[in-house]
Amino acid sequence: KMIKKCLFPAAGYGTRFLPATKAVPKEMLPILTKPLLQYGVEEALSAGITNMAIVTGRGKRAIEDHFDNAFELEMQLSGTSKERYLEEIKEIIRKSTFTYVRQKQMLGLGHAILTGEPLIGNEPFAVILADDLCDFDESGVISQLIKIYNQYKCSVVAIEEVPMNQTSKYGIIAGNLVDNSSNTYQVTEMIEKPDENNTPSNMAIIGRYILTPDIFTILKNIKPDKNGEIQITEALNIQANQGKVLAYKFKGKRFDCGSIEGYLDATNFLARKTGII
Ligand code: G1P
Repeated sequence: KMIKKCLFPAAGYGTRFLPATKAVPKEMLPILTKPLLQYGVEEALSAGITNMAIVTGRGKRAIEDHFDNAFELEMQLSGTSKERYLEEIKEIIRKSTFTYVRQKQMLGLGHAILTGEPLIGNEPFAVILADDLCDFDESGVISQLIKIYNQYKCSVVAIEEVPMNQTSKYGIIAGNLVDNSSNTYQVTEMIEKPDENNTPSNMAIIGRYILTPDIFTILKNIKPDKNGEIQITEALNIQANQGKVLAYKFKGKRFDCGSIEGYLDATNFLARKTGII
């Protein structure tokens, strides 16, 4: 089965960016002139995915408006030198189909993904967490994961080595290198946000996944953690126990735009790359 759909959990409050995120969805905060979510959609498109399934929530209508035609604005700019400012986003809208569902309660990333089930159905799919911005030239992280998926037909997570004192911010994996590979691991265990003293490794999951659809049944059956949240990491751990999860050390640069520091780094990096500064 081909990967045709990408799920974008985009229901979170973005509390670290308050008050900016009081009325503006955090996924709509710009890095230079493009909202974070647009970078994610571009990455999915570059991997040949055209169906964007977005899990939103209350107060997130700007997302739907962004990925739709803006008749009045387009008419105003039509025939002027400013028309080119809309070219890129219009091309994205032309190529993609956007579907939406609202998460009614914030019960964790696993719950957000389960909320997307009606948009995905019974097929493998990609997941992008837009606040992990991944820069790419030719092959984005999702393209890289799809290559692995096509070979092994199981769930695949993107990983990156982080400093030991940062493991409590991420899902962490333990695993063994797959034969003849220097970057693909068969996952033996996954733990959500272990502290430095309890972590099996420093290999952290970043916000890119390929999931097989049995994940939905698993998510329906796992219990909320101590914070009342349903974690995707726990559902993946169940697949991992069946030998059905790979972790791939991706090539590229990733910014944690869920933090102010990462957001600034991403802005500076892309400003330099595009010659703005
Ligand atoms: C989520 C996942 C975590 C993963 C991270 C990547 O955590 O639960 O396993 O490592 O995304 O960004 P969050 O950042 O939403 O707390």
